[in-house]
Amino acid sequence: MPTNVLFVCLGNICRSPTACGVLEKKIAQAGLTDQIGVDSAGTSDWHIGRPPDPRTLAAAAKAGYDLSSQRARQVSRDDFDRFDYILAMDRKNLAELEALKPKRFTGHLGLFLDGWADSPCRDMPDPYYGSAEDFAQVVRLSEAAAQAWLEALIRRA
Ligand code: 4NP
Repeated sequence: MPTNVLFVCLGNICRSPTACGVLEKKIAQAGLTDQIGVDSAGTSDWHIGRPPDPRTLAAAAKAGYDLSSQRARQVSRDDFDRFDYILAMDRKNLAELEALKPKRFTGHLGLFLDGWADSPCRDMPDPYYGSAEDFAQVVRLSEAAAQAWLEALIRRA
């Protein structure tokens, strides 16, 4: 049985698609594609069906990640049956997920950046109203945190 990881932000067009694409590439490079699945979703329904924001795509592509096949979707209660790890980008997303979480959920619900011991922040900064540098920072934070999560997932397997 593979372990499944879901990243969740607000719009599902900036932060969680980045985290998803970064961890997906690390899993492929580690040869673990059959063992660890990744996906992303948003708490809102604002961008359902849309590809990531062009600024997200550009920042990720610059660092070697292709996010172009991703499409936004809204998180649902069913996701708690399909995913073992649900990782929120910030504490607002986490509060929404806590409210949606069925009692039967036995997996891990927490903050993505809490998995990286040296993270400078707990919330992934929302770059939506920011600059290209803010989008680049999401990629850099995602790279470090995804590496920490990959190592943790391998240890727990
Ligand atoms: P995300 O960023 O939650 O990282 O995808 C945002 C995307 C869209 C909006 C806000 C944040 N918005 O207001 O539409």
